[in-house]
Amino acid sequence: MTAEHKKVAVVTGAGRGIGFALVEELHQRGYIVVGVVRNADDVPALCQIAPNEIFAVRGDVVEPETETILKDFLQTNAPKVDLLINNAGFGATGYGIEGLVYSELDKVLAVSCYGPIRCVRATLPSLRKSKNATIVNISSRFASLEWVVTGTVPHKEATYPYRIGKAALNMLTSCLAVELAEENMRVFSVDPGKVKTRFGPKDADTEPREAARAIVDLVENSSTTATFVHASGEKVPW
Ligand SMILES: NC(=O)c1ccc[n+]([C@@H]2O[C@H](COP(=O)([O-])OP(=O)(O)OC[C@H]3O[C@@H](n4cnc5c(N)ncnc54)[C@H](OP(=O)(O)O)[C@@H]3O)[C@@H](O)[C@H]2O)c1
Repeated sequence: MTAEHKKVAVVTGAGRGIGFALVEELHQRGYIVVGVVRNADDVPALCQIAPNEIFAVRGDVVEPETETILKDFLQTNAPKVDLLINNAGFGATGYGIEGLVYSELDKVLAVSCYGPIRCVRATLPSLRKSKNATIVNISSRFASLEWVVTGTVPHKEATYPYRIGKAALNMLTSCLAVELAEENMRVFSVDPGKVKTRFGPKDADTEPREAARAIVDLVENSSTTATFVHASGEKVPW
């Protein structure tokens, strides 16, 4: 990774869905991209897009060693990091409070909360080398406390672990936005919309690439920070 003048982005959950589309979009816009994937089988498809400009780091964000692996990779190979997108996400199956499965709650919190914390800590020394660094946390409309209590998002369509996990991620966004503002870093949460992926809802209406384009537009063409926004840029209530 030699091109010092190029922007560098790190995307988690890069093996498929929105994460894969983000890698493609960022590469098309001239970024060098480091994709974090937990399945080694996903590495060839990712790297073959542009072997000298897209790199894969094998790491499961729930594993503590991923923090050190990612940090070392970036410090050894990247002159700086301009953008971190915490995209890796996971759902649960049991609905309602009595359907909640504790092991699923543990797993979702591990991916949606502990994982992004780990990836921020791994990336921070490299983000500090950029003049305009940004952290984007991929959240969900189901994380909006206001939209849940007002029924704007249907209660029966989301599990407790998923909503709690993404709400925790939004709190991480808020804390980081305040702490890192003095270092000129932007931090915001994005609801990507209803996207046609393995995880997406039955009524999904957005192609992954379309969502990726909108998210990268927010990074490149807006000054939003300390916010929770839809990919269109419209604010979502916390
Ligand atoms: N699709 C939607 O409509 C929608 C709406 C709102 C929010 N979102 C959010 O958007 C993000 C991307 O979802 P998607 O729709 O693209 O779903 P997806 O196609 O299921 O992709 C999820 C990605 O996250 C990765 N991942 C899951 N657990 C991981 C872990 N422990 N470590 C590393 N990677 C892990 C998956 O890796 P594997 O391939 O190894 O499983 C996969 O690459 C998620 O955070 C999701 O909550 C999606």
